[in-house]
Amino acid sequence: MPLKNFFRQEVLDLTAYHLEEHTGVKLNQNESPWDIPVELKTEVVEALIRIPWNRYPLSETRTLQKKMAKYLGVWPDNLVFANGSNVLIQALTFATSIAREILVVDPTFGIYEVEAKLFGNRVIRVPLREDFSIPPDLFLKTLKKEKPGLVFIPNPNAPTGNLFDRDLLIKIISTADCLVVIDEAYCQFSGVTLLDDLKEHDNLVILRTFSKAFALGGLRLGWMIAEPEICHQIQKCLLPFRLGKLTFATAMAVLESPEYMEEYVKVVCKERDRLYQEMKKIKRIKVYPSQANFLLFEVEKGEAVFRKLLSEKVILRQVNDGRRLVNALRVSVGAPEENDVFLNALRKIVG
Ligand SMILES: Cc1ncc(COP(=O)(O)O)c(C=O)c1O
Repeated sequence: MPLKNFFRQEVLDLTAYHLEEHTGVKLNQNESPWDIPVELKTEVVEALIRIPWNRYPLSETRTLQKKMAKYLGVWPDNLVFANGSNVLIQALTFATSIAREILVVDPTFGIYEVEAKLFGNRVIRVPLREDFSIPPDLFLKTLKKEKPGLVFIPNPNAPTGNLFDRDLLIKIISTADCLVVIDEAYCQFSGVTLLDDLKEHDNLVILRTFSKAFALGGLRLGWMIAEPEICHQIQKCLLPFRLGKLTFATAMAVLESPEYMEEYVKVVCKERDRLYQEMKKIKRIKVYPSQANFLLFEVEKGEAVFRKLLSEKVILRQVNDGRRLVNALRVSVGAPEENDVFLNALRKIVG
């Protein structure tokens, strides 16, 4: 029987997410180059041995909400956890916008558009300016005219790495008649957050993740921060018992001792700035400044440079949206020795 008899057209039209696996210096997923400290892992394992695994997790979510609320200086009811902030992007889209408009900047993080299309939404992209800033008049005009069901803006933006103007973000949030999601996946590397603006704006949703600065990409845990009533509605779109006991124990342990994360962030930011300076010296590439843990750069032939780097065992992310970014590559900031391997390979290939 034809697949269209089984599946919605939106599903059939989507290209499946696929990331090729390679061995080498892995700088393609904006992960932390270092694992969490082994003492924390031991603590987690010991905690897991003490608890029953045959029971569903019941009180864990509330306990983690309280712990995180204290860490952030918000209330437990301001928080919703899910298995990665990607899942929250899906829940937010599902909860607010079936067959409506979703407003994003362009270029930006691809998952917003994937989820939007899955639910039959029309995606409206506002092109960023040459320096990747948001054109204020165009964005606000589009917001008023199109009346989208949801707005997604990462700050810092991905894959460009820049921060957006704070006053403009606030203007967008106060102008919108819908939820505005500010995705702060990389906020620890920029030191900038809109957390203090939550009280003033009941349509503001902030997304965070354990996958980047906390060095826990393998855990799959993200959270959103918003008004309790917004959180309550999003909870309904997520499945119960989703916070597994391993995830819970790990999150509790790292929130008890977050100092390792602060140390990692310091080194990554220093390395990011060194990489930027070194890359600026390489002729025939254009590197953009970043406030995140990655750098975007353009070369003459993106695909060729990507493949040559692979043959030097350096794994980057190719960025080709067929619009503004065609010959671009994104490099995650690694450990100092990994960054040196990358720099040497890049100099050899394009320098
Ligand atoms: C802007 C942005 N938001 C969200 C995510 C996804 O984070 P998570 O691992 O929590 O699903 C990423 C991951 O690369 C990202 O770049």
